[in-house]
Amino acid sequence: MHVISVMNYKGGVGKTTITANLAAELANRGYRVLLIDIDPQTNLTLSFITPGEWEKYYANTKTIREWFNSFEEGLSPVDLKRLIFTPPKVNQRLQQLGATGQVDMIASHLELINIDLELAVQLSSASLRQAVRNFLRVHGRLAQGLGQLEKERYQFVLIDCPNNLNIVTKTAIVASDYLLIPTKADYLSTLGIGYLNNSLDNLKRDYNEYVKVDEGKSARAINPRVLGVIFNMIQVYAESPIATQRSYMEKLKSLRLPIFDTYLRENKTCYATSPEFGIPTVLSNGFCENVVSDIKSFASEFVHKLGTINPKF
Ligand SMILES: Nc1ncnc2c1ncn2[C@@H]1O[C@H](COP(=O)(O)OP(=O)(O)OP(=O)(O)O)[C@@H](O)[C@H]1O
Ligand SMILES: [Mg+2]
Repeated sequence: MHVISVMNYKGGVGKTTITANLAAELANRGYRVLLIDIDPQTNLTLSFITPGEWEKYYANTKTIREWFNSFEEGLSPVDLKRLIFTPPKVNQRLQQLGATGQVDMIASHLELINIDLELAVQLSSASLRQAVRNFLRVHGRLAQGLGQLEKERYQFVLIDCPNNLNIVTKTAIVASDYLLIPTKADYLSTLGIGYLNNSLDNLKRDYNEYVKVDEGKSARAINPRVLGVIFNMIQVYAESPIATQRSYMEKLKSLRLPIFDTYLRENKTCYATSPEFGIPTVLSNGFCENVVSDIKSFASEFVHKLGTINPKF
């Protein structure tokens, strides 16, 4: 099971769109994929089910909010498996296509925004020993949940993160093997990537330092790494990205982070409408050929990269 968090400090760069399409394409290739939406905007959730369905079937009892809430004193523990559901529309489409894979999901909740405050309170402590324990416990929460899913045979868990590095997002990093960083090729979108990479290193260092000194020995060292930066919303002229975008694509190389060879071209019409119908664009019928071919090459490179890093995959 590979756990991948999709993140960038910058909003609107395509994190959710890429997460939804990648999951659909992986399932189309026969993989079992679990999506976890930890963004209180609930955009990924609402790309697969309608707001009415969310309200009726999930909002009150079946979102990732229940998992984080269950650690409050006096509440009974929640099984993360209980929060998983299989969104019908995308999976019906996969069946029509004869795919053997599946997309499952844990929905988000608008109130997730308040959970960060609660987690911050749980971090506070009177003694150093307790501070270490609280840090590991709080940051390790999602990892602990995913530990319950080992028998579920998911090849991929994709976590759609909000555009900030609050505590909930940090729990995703701690739970992850890899980070996938979508970006536009412009100044402001690329600016935060170096900073994100430093934050990743700092969190890894602090967490692993605490693991070493923790007397309870309950947590394991972590090593989340950047799988790659994927450029999105690229405008192409004469089969190449336009000059301004190309220059930002070049500049990013100085950070020495892995970058996907594939870039995703801009196509407002195709990407904008698909969330409303609950089926990502890559599974659309015959329209949007550019989008389908971009996502397919990206998915191939994604699987190839993981296979290169981890030959057992
Ligand atoms: N390649 C693309 N071409 C054109 N439009 C795109 C492309 N990728 C994404 N979009 C559009 O850009 C908008 C933002 O995308 P998305 O919601 O996926 O970004 P995000 O990074 O998840 O945003 P947030 O930070 O708010 O979570 C959406 O309207 C989406 O349809
Ligand atoms: Mg999003």
